[in-house]
Amino acid sequence: MVAITEAVSLEKEGDIGMLWIDNPPVNALGFPVRKGMADGIAMAMKDDGIKAIVVICKGGTFCAGADIREFGKPPKEPHLPDVLTVFDECTKPIIAAVHGTAFGGGLETALSSHFRVAVATAQFGLPEVKLGLLPGAGGTQRLPRLIGPEKALPMVATGNPIGAAQALKEGVIDEIVEGDLAQGAVAFARKVLAEKRPLRQVSRMTDKLDKNPQIFADYRKQLAKTARGFEAPEACVKAVEAAANKPFAEGLKYERELFSQLMMGSQSAAQRYYFFAERQVAKIPDIPKDTPLIDIKKVGIIGAGTMGGGITMNFVNAGIPVTLVEAKQEFLDRGIGVIKKNYDITASKGKMTQEAVAKRMGLIKGTTKMEDLADVDLVIEAVYENMDLKKEIFGKLDAICKPGAILATNTSYLNVDQIAAMTQRPEFVLGLHFFSPANVMRLLEVVRGAKTALPVLATAMAIAKKIKKIAVMVGVCFGFAGNRMFAQRKREVDKLVLEGAPITQLDKVIYDFGFPMGPVALLDLIGIDLGWSKETSKGETMQQILCEAGRFGIKNNKGYYNYAEGSRAPKPAPEVDEMIKALAKKKGYTPRAISDEEIIQRCIYPIINEGAKILEEKIAVRPSDLDVIWVNGYGWPVYRGGPMFYADLVGLDKVLAVMKQFQAKHGDDFKPAPLLEKLVKEGKNFASLNV
Ligand SMILES: NC(=O)c1ccc[n+]([C@@H]2O[C@H](COP(=O)([O-])OP(=O)(O)OC[C@H]3O[C@@H](n4cnc5c(N)ncnc54)[C@H](O)[C@@H]3O)[C@@H](O)[C@H]2O)c1
Repeated sequence: MVAITEAVSLEKEGDIGMLWIDNPPVNALGFPVRKGMADGIAMAMKDDGIKAIVVICKGGTFCAGADIREFGKPPKEPHLPDVLTVFDECTKPIIAAVHGTAFGGGLETALSSHFRVAVATAQFGLPEVKLGLLPGAGGTQRLPRLIGPEKALPMVATGNPIGAAQALKEGVIDEIVEGDLAQGAVAFARKVLAEKRPLRQVSRMTDKLDKNPQIFADYRKQLAKTARGFEAPEACVKAVEAAANKPFAEGLKYERELFSQLMMGSQSAAQRYYFFAERQVAKIPDIPKDTPLIDIKKVGIIGAGTMGGGITMNFVNAGIPVTLVEAKQEFLDRGIGVIKKNYDITASKGKMTQEAVAKRMGLIKGTTKMEDLADVDLVIEAVYENMDLKKEIFGKLDAICKPGAILATNTSYLNVDQIAAMTQRPEFVLGLHFFSPANVMRLLEVVRGAKTALPVLATAMAIAKKIKKIAVMVGVCFGFAGNRMFAQRKREVDKLVLEGAPITQLDKVIYDFGFPMGPVALLDLIGIDLGWSKETSKGETMQQILCEAGRFGIKNNKGYYNYAEGSRAPKPAPEVDEMIKALAKKKGYTPRAISDEEIIQRCIYPIINEGAKILEEKIAVRPSDLDVIWVNGYGWPVYRGGPMFYADLVGLDKVLAVMKQFQAKHGDDFKPAPLLEKLVKEGKNFASLNV
């Protein structure tokens, strides 16, 4: 065996050269691997005893893509496209032997080989688009040549991987190896030699290249729905289109150009930033990695309403039994009925078997007795948002639950420390703030009380992962991080409506910014009556006026907009325009035209400002955590990174200057956060605070 670099060696297995890659943990295509591959192929070429070359990896996977740590650094030669040209032009057959994942540059390496074999569990994908990029080492040119543009498009433009069986069916690989991969690959190489098979240079294949423009038009239509606002998927389509229509070398050049454009653009910067932000979020500086965890075998949930039901589903989906407590049997039956209906809908779509439904339902034990929570390891309270009720429940829980059980509240706004104070175990109390619908939304705010113990917090972060949530640690304050920031936008939207911005303009501007829906349409969806009470309503706000007029939103087909029965498509409601005009007049507003730019600034900059206050108060660990909250909990478009990333992109000096202008015109809702002022003064940005 000859070591070529610290990561690559060449070994002879009779007349087959085995090019072994060993670059833990995932055999990423960093410099030692790239150089080792290029030099290894050159060495094998010179060795007359080697007739064919197998490229194979040690450890748990084939090359799982580019070394993301090299992003943003000056590239070091040889570059991957050049190494892959060496593969392509090698006159001895190269066989890529794949196990684990061949993603990104990994798959591009396999595509540049002349043949591909894999174990049955291998996966293949080009996930670059998920980082706002496209495969930049020939993937967009070789894959369509190998399997045709129609099959290549979804792989390139969605980044979703396929398994070995599908890869074999589509022609991405030539054979699935049963048993030992190295032996299987050697046997395959010998077969290629014995049968004198011609070299299959993918770059020269043309028979699958369907040029029909309809394929691309149809795919673009699909993308308009699934990838609205994203630049990279369209660039992927353009690159595959070029594969169909241009010679290989030109296509490769075009792919490079598109790659460079994306790499320099703000969307990819945002998506790459976000990729790290989501990995960083689990790291809490004062919680050591080896903090002992509490074993959560059984969970109790109180309240089988909107949130309790969804939270229950999360746990039983993860195979954890739940004791679900309700105040009355009829509420319990209704709550469990809703859960069953949700699963039945999933099953009717073929996404779940009836056995799986039965198994999950079997993990739920409904009860009206809180005493049944004596043996659970974690309780999550999800009753009405009422402090007295929550206090009473925590007092009872403290007496019922075994020592060491964690007591959590799903409150949206209330003070977790006051709730904890009702128990003799405040160190075991915290907030677990799920988002609605709790079985769908990935965000979970883990609310750290003043006395919450480290093992309790570490356990909460770990259990969140188990139920497939993205947990973000926040501190106690009104609305925690997410809702507290969101309240800023809500307030400005209410004001902008009265100042004269048509609700359709507000909705369009925010939708076009990249949110899944506009802020007014969102109010109709969640219910205008949320937090409204008939007894205290005085016709002084649009919420009160609409609710007094029986306009609660989509739920009763009329809110800010009108809705046809059973439809969620908003239609204009002239009667609401009149209500808005009347209230604006009463409050002394003179209607004015408001620019789209002002709407963005009024709705977004106060969110950023509140984020700065939250950081200053140490309610959140780092700015990027706030971005994770916004992307997962509030539909912030990931290609804009999150509000704090966006602020850096706009420039904190500009955000501050605009906030000051608004403060002069509209008052102290726009008072700049001291941290924002400080960062601008010091010439720093939020990214500098990302520990
Ligand atoms: N709905 C949301 O969007 C949302 C999002 C995040 C957090 N939250 C919070 O979650 C909590 C629950 O909200 P929801 O929307 O699910 O309310 P909900 O009204 O849908 O459900 C509350 C349930 O609690 C039950 N309940 C009341 N008192 C009880 C008692 N003593 N014992 C057992 N059950 C009792 C009620 O019967 C009801 O079924 C609130 O604190 C709310 O602020 C709500």
